[in-house]
Amino acid sequence: PSVSLEDNIVTARLPSGDSCQVYLYGATVTSWKTSDNNERLFLSSAAALDGSKPIRGGIPIVFPVFGPPPKDHATGQLPQHGFARNSVWEYLGKSSSESMGTKADDSVKLDFGLGSSMLSEDMKKKWPHDFGLVYSVTLSKGKLEVQLHVQNKGDKAFDFQCLFHSYFTVKDISKTTVSGLEGASYVDKVRKAETFTEESSDIPITSETDRVYSTPSVPPIVVKEDGKDSLVCTRDALPDCTVWNGWQEKIAGMGDFEPKDAWKRYLCIEPGTVSSWTKLEAGDAWEGSAIFEAKL
Ligand code: BG6
Repeated sequence: PSVSLEDNIVTARLPSGDSCQVYLYGATVTSWKTSDNNERLFLSSAAALDGSKPIRGGIPIVFPVFGPPPKDHATGQLPQHGFARNSVWEYLGKSSSESMGTKADDSVKLDFGLGSSMLSEDMKKKWPHDFGLVYSVTLSKGKLEVQLHVQNKGDKAFDFQCLFHSYFTVKDISKTTVSGLEGASYVDKVRKAETFTEESSDIPITSETDRVYSTPSVPPIVVKEDGKDSLVCTRDALPDCTVWNGWQEKIAGMGDFEPKDAWKRYLCIEPGTVSSWTKLEAGDAWEGSAIFEAKL
């Protein structure tokens, strides 16, 4: 595999033609192309790429809180979705390994790190915990794996939530459905944050959708386009998944979301652990991951 770091962007390419691009700002994956040259991630053409605000599109990392932080919680002073997506991470290097039936050329793993000492003074004050994050992005043919390792390096326990806020490209949202969530409970932010049980085996996205599904048994989540599987998401230790499309009106109001009609061509499928807090005792570590597999 070829890997380069230029202008704070890490680019990796496999002999198969698969490639990905990761900004050190937020360790945000901004591009994932499969060997057919198909871009799998949606990135707004108005996304700020200069570090002035979180990148709109790709895979921003949400940590240590999802959504607006509850005011009475230890994360209460942090910005929406925490600080991981707008901190500058360190590139820790690449590795590729040979295993049964695979060659070292078949995949490449890129590691990124963020620790308490790297946060801005403002963020350190707002969340004064000693932590270490290692984020690994593994590219292989037709697949992208993202894994977050969280370590509590301090002497007090802390609570966190985390989520991969992945924006995927779809050809036509009106022909896109999501399956694998039947029977899951979900909080519907569009309907007064009430809780419902998903009855559909194949959920059509026909209006603004902003739901946090909780699926303790982590079944694969499948995005279908025109009835055919286009993306399969499998998860480890990430029991929740947000499904978000802001639809025409919300997107019209988002300054960094362009082109304005692109709500028709993206869907966020966001695996994470966000419906409750994960408590990490002093000295302990936690790991969660998701694999996205391109099917079409
Ligand atoms: C989703 C949330 O995960 O992110 C939505 O469920 C939110 O409610 C969306 O609008 C975008 O958030 P932000 O902070 O990137 O504008």
